[in-house]
Amino acid sequence: MHTERHIFRERLAAVAAALALLTGGGVLIAVPAAAAGTTAIAGKAATAVATPTTPTTATTPAVDNGLARTPQMGFNNWNSTHCRAEFNEAMVKGIADTFVSQGLKNAGYTYVNIDDCWALPSRDAAGNLVPDPVRFPGGIKAVADYVHSKGLKFGIYSSAGTKTCDVQGFPGGLGHEQQDADLWASWGVDYLKYDNCNNTGADARQRYTAMANALKATGRPILYSICEWGENQPWNWAPDIGNSWRTTGDISDSWSSMIGIAHRNQGLAPYAKPGAWNDPDMLEVGNGGMSDTEYRTHFSLWAQMAAPLLIGSDLRSASAATLAILKNTDVIAVDQDSLGKQATVVASSGGLVVMSKPLADGGRSVTLTNETTSTKTVSTTVGAIGIGGASSYALKDLWSRQTSTTTGTISASVPAHGTVMYRVTPGAPVPPPAGVNQLSDLSWTSAVNGWGPVERDRSNGEQAAGDGRTLTVNGTTYAKGLGTHAGSTVTYYLGGSCTTLTTGVGVDDESGGANGSVVFQIYRDGTKVADSGRLTGADASGELTADLTGGLELRLVITDSGDGINYDHADWAAPRLTCI
Ligand code: GLA
Repeated sequence: MHTERHIFRERLAAVAAALALLTGGGVLIAVPAAAAGTTAIAGKAATAVATPTTPTTATTPAVDNGLARTPQMGFNNWNSTHCRAEFNEAMVKGIADTFVSQGLKNAGYTYVNIDDCWALPSRDAAGNLVPDPVRFPGGIKAVADYVHSKGLKFGIYSSAGTKTCDVQGFPGGLGHEQQDADLWASWGVDYLKYDNCNNTGADARQRYTAMANALKATGRPILYSICEWGENQPWNWAPDIGNSWRTTGDISDSWSSMIGIAHRNQGLAPYAKPGAWNDPDMLEVGNGGMSDTEYRTHFSLWAQMAAPLLIGSDLRSASAATLAILKNTDVIAVDQDSLGKQATVVASSGGLVVMSKPLADGGRSVTLTNETTSTKTVSTTVGAIGIGGASSYALKDLWSRQTSTTTGTISASVPAHGTVMYRVTPGAPVPPPAGVNQLSDLSWTSAVNGWGPVERDRSNGEQAAGDGRTLTVNGTTYAKGLGTHAGSTVTYYLGGSCTTLTTGVGVDDESGGANGSVVFQIYRDGTKVADSGRLTGADASGELTADLTGGLELRLVITDSGDGINYDHADWAAPRLTCI
């Protein structure tokens, strides 16, 4: 045990250190101490419940403002203007006009947002922020009204500090949260980007929570975009208070900046969910520093990562190529998919990177990215991207829009710095054979996992396929089974031909001691038919039996039991499926 715990801690520390290094911070991921007073349910029988339950924590509302159920889409002036004079009322109104005239509004872009430098350097005698009368002669409310008149929404900017980021030093929101939030609400503001400059070293979570509470107290739904550059591991606390959180420092209009940010954001997939998104910063598409091939990679990766899509180029002068990228509705549909999952990296070697994003229709979007400087073939399989159980799969290339089919291999010639992006849709699934089947010998139709892929006959090693160890729960080993990590959903097609699933359940010893706490749930066609209750690393293996008679689909779900996903390595130990 000591060795196992040591190994696991090392692995976790390595991940945290990598993230800290990449985000410029020095703090490790917070790992919760083992919870005391948990109830062991070893040997607990299956519980039948009448009411269908949502089979995943992924749809749990994060911040209760009801906004950003899919990643926000819109515009922000920063990447194209910074604080230059052309950032003004005419620009903002012109962008709103262009949203309508160029079909961007129809494609889903909603928010027209302004960034730093909209205010005067001093508050007025009453302590209120004052719009710069040169940039915004009619004030901010007039601009918001104009944007609203186009059926769009309007966003504003401030900093959780004494001043904003620009050297001119515009007033920040620290200590003025309610007064500023009330003013913005009175102007009709729908969105706040809240930056991190001049923060006096005060606790980030407290600073950002103060503004979250102030926004809520206005009574106006205001999307809350936290921008502290990933410095305080916001993925561990921001989902409770904000709709998105920046994960890195600022993007710039170059391949190296864009792809570096993508790498840092890729490892944070398990934290994204409806209402709460990782934000790898705004788009540079169309700003001129990258080729159109590189911009297509940028847009593809941001959609795969369920990132906010905030256009950062001046749309009033956008080229046809730029508009074609930004208006690719197939790629946008991936970003906006209602399941709300961020893609995970399923393979990365020699600059060839494959990412897979689970979609609400049971399919996947897959990106094949070539980060090298010459054309390469990039390949994967349906199994590697987390689907299976069908004899054929439809592929749609989301940039060429060509369609094809495959029995399993997905492969493309990808130009230097390019990305080929497919939507992969399984054909009719094949039911399991009669008799008693070990689930790990069957093909799942879909596997979604918190960290790394679901493993067959191995525990979940978190990082890559095959990196786990022998499935072990409280010292008992299992030759067969599935090694998963909360939140996980593994789905099998039954076709009405199976009767029972009997399985051991428990937190793998790989988590170390009492670490980890999860709930195992079994669903037949969306109805929960077995539930383990909360199990921790201190508990012995339990056993669940589920009646699957007549069911078309079996779904195995691991939730984090409501206390975060760290250490939640969950084993389906020797799951046996009886079919007729
Ligand atoms: C910070 C933010 C940027 C932008 C500028 C404005 O650098 O990260 O996105 O808002 O401030 O000054």
